Amino acid sequence: MAILKIARMGHPILATKAAQVSDPAAPEIRRLVNDMIETMADANGAGLAAPQVHVPLRVVVFQAPGERSNDLSGEEAFDHTAPLTVLINPEIAVMDPKPEGGWEGCLSVPGLRGWVERPAHIRYRGFGLDGKLIERTARGFHARVVQHECDHLDGRLYPSRMADLSKLVFESEIRHFQAAQ
Ligand code: NI
Repeated sequence: MAILKIARMGHPILATKAAQVSDPAAPEIRRLVNDMIETMADANGAGLAAPQVHVPLRVVVFQAPGERSNDLSGEEAFDHTAPLTVLINPEIAVMDPKPEGGWEGCLSVPGLRGWVERPAHIRYRGFGLDGKLIERTARGFHARVVQHECDHLDGRLYPSRMADLSKLVFESEIRHFQAAQ
């Protein structure tokens, strides 16, 4: 395993549409995913997409831990949280287009946070490393992180999803906004 170099905003790889993976169970994909997970953990990120480590393939890893999500129990909590997940060739369907705002950060946009509105309820599918189909519904932070990571596969960074760039701020200044919410 290895910690990979993360591309930063402005590098052309982040604006490139990534290619489908022909064999999700291939050993080189497993190697890539293991390195992505190690890189994400080292950088303390919630998600990472392959283009962020200079590999233009449709592969993302993410987790939606409980402490980042709404405090719910039972089935709804599963919607809001996700274990460490590998998704290859992911697809998203919007279940409820009603937008929900939230602060996002990105390992490719270090030091900043932005307020982004996205559909609050989605369904997604993709393949795991074993080649098996994963299908889930997601809300809250879980829905947000999946949409954010899949945007990377189409060459989009979260600032391009922002409606109000006055809410693109340094992490150290975000407290001014949180007080006002
Ligand atoms: Ni990102």
